[in-house]
Amino acid sequence: MRVVDLRSDTVTLPTEEMLEAIRTAKLGDDVYGEDPTVNRLEELAAERMGKEAALLTTSGTQANLVSVMAQTKRGDEVILEANAHLYYYEVGAFSVLGGLVPRLVRGHMGVMAPQDIEEALRPPNIHFPPTSLICIENTHNRAGGAMWSPSQMNAVFGLAKSRGLRVHMDGARIFNAAVAQNLDVREFTRYVDTLMFCLSKGLSAPIGSLAVGDREFIDRARRYRKMLGGGMRQAGVIAAPGIIAIEKMVDRLRDDHANAKLLATGLAKIEGVSLDPANVQTNIVLYDVTGLGVVAKEWVAKMGELGVKAGAQEGGWVRMVTHRGIEKDDIEYALSTAENVAEQIKKD
Ligand SMILES: Cc1ncc(COP(=O)(O)O)c(C=O)c1O
Repeated sequence: MRVVDLRSDTVTLPTEEMLEAIRTAKLGDDVYGEDPTVNRLEELAAERMGKEAALLTTSGTQANLVSVMAQTKRGDEVILEANAHLYYYEVGAFSVLGGLVPRLVRGHMGVMAPQDIEEALRPPNIHFPPTSLICIENTHNRAGGAMWSPSQMNAVFGLAKSRGLRVHMDGARIFNAAVAQNLDVREFTRYVDTLMFCLSKGLSAPIGSLAVGDREFIDRARRYRKMLGGGMRQAGVIAAPGIIAIEKMVDRLRDDHANAKLLATGLAKIEGVSLDPANVQTNIVLYDVTGLGVVAKEWVAKMGELGVKAGAQEGGWVRMVTHRGIEKDDIEYALSTAENVAEQIKKD
């Protein structure tokens, strides 16, 4: 049976070139700072992001956690968007392991308005935990891959600086935002103190993310990574495909965005399926199937029986993500499958 896996861009497999790079990578013990391939990846990531230094981590979750821990103290309050990945999907690590208190601000399509953040910032008072950090997410996963523009980021960064706060960006898919807005990624990163980005999503590397910021921050993050068991030895086998991810896989994200648009436009034509294709800005398509009288799980199960894999979220919300390996004819197959499933549901 034909399988079109649209659950996530994390399902991408490494390219042949990546596999060859793993086999031939120059290796050393990275805990001693002696893996030349890791050092090269970290220098490349820092340079691409316009910051002093970078740190390879096992995952986006670990990069977010070490980033947050390295610029807060236990008991601090952190401003997060109400649906932030850091808050919603990271097992509460920043509270459990970082000892931090979340203060949630609801955004519009993932973007927090500076005035809403301002309202959430509490004055110094013995009753309140002190706020030290604002976290933003670009692109925003639960908002369907929606983007912040540099000017929206600048507004929040300006507010943060006027209050002596730092800003961290969960930029798991920041290259998607940069490609979609036809801008150099530094146009975004200049408005944050620190960020993390993932190699293992649309960029197609098998493992790894990077935390990026100034050298002092990276030194602290490196200690936290070690504490969390993330000090890796011959990690050049992870870094080698990561270098190819950054150097060669960024521009192709455009194809994923075009495929996501095609998918969204087709889905919006199906009676009972609701979404606004204009909201699909990058490679994530979120749509609601409640109009068909089913919940997302039922829809996803029926699609899955016909080989099209999707993600079920709360209620009627379904998520599909485009990535390398998904071609235009896969999108056409997913759309005809969705039409058939919708017809079948209406008949039942
Ligand atoms: C926005 C965002 N941040 C962080 C992560 C965490 O990355 P990882 O799965 O590598 O831990 C993800 C993963 O999907 C994500 O979408």
